[in-house]
Amino acid sequence: MSSSTAPVHAGELIRKFEKRTARVGVVGLGYVGLPLAVEKAKVGFQVVGFDRNAARVASVNLGVNYIEDVVDAELRDLVLDHKRMEASSEWGRLAEMDAIVICVPTPLTRNLTPDLQFVEAVTREVARRLRPGQFVSLESTTYPGTTEEVIKPILESTGLREGEDFHLAFSPERVDPGNKRFTTRNTSKVVGAAGPSSLEVALAFYRQTIQEVVPVSSSRVAEMVKVFENTFRSVNIALVNELAMLCDRMDLDVWEVLDAAGTKPFGIMPFYPGPGVGGHCIPLDPHYLEWKAREFNFNTRFIALAGEINRRMPEFVVGKAMRVLSDRGLGLRSARVLVLGLAYKKDVDDARESPGAEVLGLLVARGARVEYHDPHVPRYGDGRLDLRSVALTESALDLADLVVILTDHSDVDYAFVLRHARLVLDTRNATRGLKADRDRLVLL
Ligand SMILES: NC(=O)c1ccc[n+]([C@@H]2O[C@H](COP(=O)([O-])OP(=O)(O)OC[C@H]3O[C@@H](n4cnc5c(N)ncnc54)[C@H](O)[C@@H]3O)[C@@H](O)[C@H]2O)c1
Repeated sequence: MSSSTAPVHAGELIRKFEKRTARVGVVGLGYVGLPLAVEKAKVGFQVVGFDRNAARVASVNLGVNYIEDVVDAELRDLVLDHKRMEASSEWGRLAEMDAIVICVPTPLTRNLTPDLQFVEAVTREVARRLRPGQFVSLESTTYPGTTEEVIKPILESTGLREGEDFHLAFSPERVDPGNKRFTTRNTSKVVGAAGPSSLEVALAFYRQTIQEVVPVSSSRVAEMVKVFENTFRSVNIALVNELAMLCDRMDLDVWEVLDAAGTKPFGIMPFYPGPGVGGHCIPLDPHYLEWKAREFNFNTRFIALAGEINRRMPEFVVGKAMRVLSDRGLGLRSARVLVLGLAYKKDVDDARESPGAEVLGLLVARGARVEYHDPHVPRYGDGRLDLRSVALTESALDLADLVVILTDHSDVDYAFVLRHARLVLDTRNATRGLKADRDRLVLL
């Protein structure tokens, strides 16, 4: 025991979690952190959300929600009526917390290497106030080794020891934004820790809000599980994207092929092609593993290949748009194109790393006159483009030489789109099952 205080027994912390008297700090109030903070507050914990974004802190403190997966009324009630949740940007308050969960971004540098600056900055703030008896958990996606090689040394530089004075775990967030069936609560959660007593504490913490918690033998295993899951998706999406490009060349309908293949009751899983991959996870996380593998003189060839194929898709979609226009005697230059959907996937408001945004940029660069409609993304700006979502009216559809469906949001009436558009390129098979007006429809 390195500090002067008495050893802090894991049992004390575990009892606080079980009685839900612990104070929980969630750092990073974004797509991951805000829903997590709400779940913790809902079961009775006193929660403080920390963020450096003053607008987000103010919004939470007014009970005003800004993340689609969070129920507006739940946040409002927890903050304003029950007073079980608040937000702050005062790092000093970290000292009050029994548990601190870190959910800040883990982006890539321009050279596609891990950028842990946010995780490291937050960990240093935690270290400055670290006291015996605290539990720290990292939920940001990262490469295997981060918790032990980056977080633990910063926290132990205080003189306090993991497993004796404080407890440390890694538990990846698996949330699937927009998924109504699987939410934070009923998605099983993998937990790995820096040592056995940290694991016990971590399991007690997560069992209060998650139906099934899956312990693994170390934080490195838990980190690997998360990057593997996202790599699995990236590779399988790349496989069906490659199939889509081949089917296009062979004049086969890739959707019919996939639907029929999907009738096999074993040995196959549904993955669908599209304009590419987007969001904060699939395009980025596999590169974390790719980078770490190099330290072991190992080349992750599937990751590189999948990334290459998926990144080619926006260009392929624009090429196909040019072909379908030219089949009707039109050129892309100065054609009017209406893009349907900019979010990176259905029913979310997140256009980060969105392939739709890339397709939009390519269409503009080739001289098309582009508008977009996305009920979840009212405005889109990326430094070069600054556009607002237009209303999906008969005249907006009829005025367009081509409508390109890039995101298959549930709240768009695709029968209406087919009825009033002159020509539609559907990259998501959003028009599946519609019988009328298919003569003006081309699938990816
Ligand atoms: N979005 C997803 O679907 C998803 C799913 C699973 C895992 N993840 C992972 O979870 C992590 C967080 O992702 P997200 O989508 O919630 O990010 P986000 O951008 O939505 O939110 C991150 C929040 O952290 C805050 N922040 C950044 N640096 C900070 C600092 N130094 N101090 C305090 N606050 C800071 C930002 O202001 C922002 O509010 C990432 O590692 C991501 O890969 C995301």
